Amino acid sequence: MDRIRIIGGHRLNGTIPISGAKNAALPLMIASLLTEQTLILDNVPRLADVAQLERILGNHGVDIMVSGKRSGETADHGQTLHISAARIVDTTAPYELVSKMRASFWVLAPLVARMGKARISMPGGCAIGTRPVDLLIMAVERLGAKIDIEGGYVVARAPKGLKGAEIVFPKVTVGGTHTAVMAASLAKGTTVIENAAREPEIADVADCLNKMGARISGAGTRQIIVEGVAGLKGARHAVLPDRIETGTYAMAAAMTGGDVLLQNGRPELLQAALDVLVRAGVTVMPTNQGIRIVRNGAGLAPVDVTTAPFPEFPTDLQAQLMALMTRASGTSHITETIFENRFMHVGELTRLGARIQLDGERATIEGVPQLKGAPVMATDLRASVSLVIAALAAEGETIVNRVYHLDRGFERLEDKLGRCGAAVERLSG
Ligand code: EPZ
Repeated sequence: MDRIRIIGGHRLNGTIPISGAKNAALPLMIASLLTEQTLILDNVPRLADVAQLERILGNHGVDIMVSGKRSGETADHGQTLHISAARIVDTTAPYELVSKMRASFWVLAPLVARMGKARISMPGGCAIGTRPVDLLIMAVERLGAKIDIEGGYVVARAPKGLKGAEIVFPKVTVGGTHTAVMAASLAKGTTVIENAAREPEIADVADCLNKMGARISGAGTRQIIVEGVAGLKGARHAVLPDRIETGTYAMAAAMTGGDVLLQNGRPELLQAALDVLVRAGVTVMPTNQGIRIVRNGAGLAPVDVTTAPFPEFPTDLQAQLMALMTRASGTSHITETIFENRFMHVGELTRLGARIQLDGERATIEGVPQLKGAPVMATDLRASVSLVIAALAAEGETIVNRVYHLDRGFERLEDKLGRCGAAVERLSG
């Protein structure tokens, strides 16, 4: 199993190209199931989760062609996928595939909406929380699908198609909102989605669906209205930049000190996180190429942050911020309100010399003058990169084990950090 070796203490200076967003690319690829025509997606990141989804879509009969390199393109360019779901030959998503990547459960919506049936394995447990799918099931049920749970599978049937309805989410759910929007796009009549998620990835998917002929309004707000259409066509769409990757590298630059340009980063996609960095004493400058992050000499001030749905501080940057606050001059508090078990990185950061107390959903981080390198274990995607951020500033060598977690959501991390002066290398096998 690959590991990453980091020698800490190097400031970061240079440019980091931000890739397309994992959490937009996955639902966009799944949206291809809604049409028999070809959906072309540009700026798709090269990630393990994207490759896993290609296998899942292939199992349904989807053909995916990856465009070859074009002249002038470098490895920094995202890939272009030509996705054709002309013939869906299987409406079952098996446990062996779904259990490897939860978001694949989202194929439920386009399959039942277009094919009138779907049999989708329940995703099972997750390191960061129980993560039920009851609200996703509720959404397709509200649109008229008959739902049965058989042998760990959700079996959805709507032989006469789906019908528009009002869907009110009792809590904000990204997956639930994607599911409702995709299913409602082919339902007869109007659907009104209340208490919808406002994450930028929701608006990116709605934008693409509207290019495919859907009639969606209000994406990005708490109320989304979908006028169902009889069919959708092909389209071409570029995946928006990854705000979580942007925030992660911003915190890495803040941790080590230095001057880094996050190329293609868009401040409006992560304003809450950038505001927290400014409160911590980091200089944040939007430019026409992206976002410049500078910290020279000034210490880090402690901050108090609570995670919440967009536009508040994202849970997917909580671990990275905690790593940063281990070096602040004072005590910070971070409250995690989205997932009930998202502090797996605390024990590993403590191995690097951090001082962190947990009390239910609240962590108290007492800043220390210096971290010290040690072998640590990655437990989930965002926790693993928080260990990388801490190791970049730790004295000596850190070995991060189980980096397959990182590969799920960070494209060419060693290369991007190495270009800015970090001493990072992958140890294979
Ligand atoms: C998406 O997960 C993201 N995943 C997550 O990113 C992200 O952390 C999360 O949204 C919140 O922003 C992708 O986009 C692929 P939710 P999702 O439904 O849709 C509860 C990463 O690191 N809930 O918004 O699964 C749920 O348990 C990943 O890239 C129900 O109770 O999250 C949680 O407490 C991790 N019933 C809360 O709602 C349901 O049916 C929000 O979850 C669905 C969710």
